[in-house]
Amino acid sequence: MWAQQTISLPQPDKTVSTTLFTTLQNRHSDRDFATTPVSDAVLSQVLWAATGVNRPDGKLTVPSANNVKDINVYVCRQDGAYKYIPASHSLVKVTDKDLRKIITNTQPAIADAPVLLVLTSDMSKIRSRSELVSHIDAGYVSQNICLVCAALNLGTVPRMQMEKNTLKSELKLKDDEILILNHPVGYVK
Ligand SMILES: Cc1cc2nc3c(=O)[nH]c(=O)nc-3n(C[C@H](O)[C@H](O)[C@H](O)COP(=O)(O)O)c2cc1C
Repeated sequence: MWAQQTISLPQPDKTVSTTLFTTLQNRHSDRDFATTPVSDAVLSQVLWAATGVNRPDGKLTVPSANNVKDINVYVCRQDGAYKYIPASHSLVKVTDKDLRKIITNTQPAIADAPVLLVLTSDMSKIRSRSELVSHIDAGYVSQNICLVCAALNLGTVPRMQMEKNTLKSELKLKDDEILILNHPVGYVK
């Protein structure tokens, strides 16, 4: 019987001393990662920036069409894969398996990154069922990941390539939850 494991993330440190314009200047893609782990404190900052709650009414750091909050972020690392829950700023484990090689299959060097973030859209939340809406909503999350990584001196690259059929089943996604992008996150070699 699968016992659900939850990790409460530390509160994100929002006191990073860099400006938006410095961050924009530093934003770029990286594909050569060290295996150095990313701490839960740093992961907390990255996930909060990606799609965390930033207001008392539960709204997020990213916009979404009609505020449907369709984008889910999964954290894939050596000890398994987790779904990020913005409301509780926590991670719920979905599998004990290390899925990083399934995500990085065509670019094996990227699998050294200690964290692979996978962005999905729960299309059941979108009344029109428009994949255009899903992709736009995911773009905001992806951009926030790019920017927070630039601000924290972490490397990342937005990627569309991944072994979608295998990943969908390993992440136990519903039929109407589609895979959109992934982001390796780690320290650059
Ligand atoms: C929608 C999208 C999909 C991408 N997919 C991949 C990918 O699968 N693999 C990869 O190495 N880079 C991927 N990239 C990164 C681009 O190649 C990269 O952003 C582009 O070369 C510009 O470089 P820069 O990000 O350093 O400015 C993707 C970027 C976007 C926006």
